[in-house]
Amino acid sequence: MGAFWGDEGKGKIISYLALKDKLDFCVRTGSVNAAHTVWAGERRYALHMVPAAFLYPKCRLLIAAGANVQVKRLLEEIELTGVRDRLGVDMNASIIEDKHAIQDKTSAFNKGIGTTGWGVGPALEERVRRTAKLARDIPELQPFIADSVSEINDGLDAGKKVLLEGTQGFLLSLFHGSYPYVTGRDTGASAIASEAGVGPTRVDDVIIVYKSFITRVGAGPMPGEISKEEALKQGWFETAAGTGRDRRSAPFNFDLAKKTARINGATQAALTKLDSLFPACRGASKFDALPAEAKQFVREVERRTGVPVVLIGTGPDALDIVDLRE
Ligand code: IMP
Ligand code: MG
Repeated sequence: MGAFWGDEGKGKIISYLALKDKLDFCVRTGSVNAAHTVWAGERRYALHMVPAAFLYPKCRLLIAAGANVQVKRLLEEIELTGVRDRLGVDMNASIIEDKHAIQDKTSAFNKGIGTTGWGVGPALEERVRRTAKLARDIPELQPFIADSVSEINDGLDAGKKVLLEGTQGFLLSLFHGSYPYVTGRDTGASAIASEAGVGPTRVDDVIIVYKSFITRVGAGPMPGEISKEEALKQGWFETAAGTGRDRRSAPFNFDLAKKTARINGATQAALTKLDSLFPACRGASKFDALPAEAKQFVREVERRTGVPVVLIGTGPDALDIVDLRE
């Protein structure tokens, strides 16, 4: 799960875990508004629908029952990633139609929020009204239709490795974020499990993903926000992988980091882009190779959140990582 306002680097962490831990299942929750960036060598993927674990060829890729599917985008990404034979869409996932994107882009209310314009909010409204189309109703999706909930729970029964892929960040949660400047769903760990159809007692670990600085796209409060000029100077300036909009930025916030870890019961933390704060970290794969200030920062994150940092991102590639798990 993401700790802040999304774009913490979940795609990178998931792609690493897929390769390293040989995940059996990866279940994508949420919707097309979230772009998960995965680098494989020189190739960059910005995935809006296909689970970020696709780099590991034996991983079964599932779209959760609670997810919202943009059919065209999903079919494009299936071709792009070559996962036709191992991707399943839960029969009960709901569908985002073109009209939802139009509503999202034209609604005066949503303009003030600065939504991504992908139509996710209006599609969720339709689902709540019980008038949404579901994946099982769509002819183009028939080859992919699955009972993902049974598959996942059967997998857990058999001791398989299952990763539930959260989207967005906790501070965009409909329930716990800075309402109304939030997305259309809860983005926390419990909601991720709920969308996938996994009971809370079956979850072994909640991995919270922190980025070494904070970014936000769209409107809403952001403590400690710095100007674009300052962000460029710091090397923190980013544009959104999905919409291309400028990301606003701010320094790492320990209080927010602690609050999110607590409400979500995080048991492990990943800290991405440490090389943006400390360029000498770039590409490191051993903790000992990090400069002293970088090590201190990692230890401070642990001390102030109470969560062990087990994965540290040191560059964009899936394998640019320090892995501190035993
Ligand atoms: P919506 O999710 O498109 O309705 O947009 C609501 C708010 O969430 C806006 O501020 C968006 O910029 C933000 N948002 C939605 N998805 C993401 C994401 O994946 N990363 C970052 N921000 C997001
Ligand atoms: Mg993103």
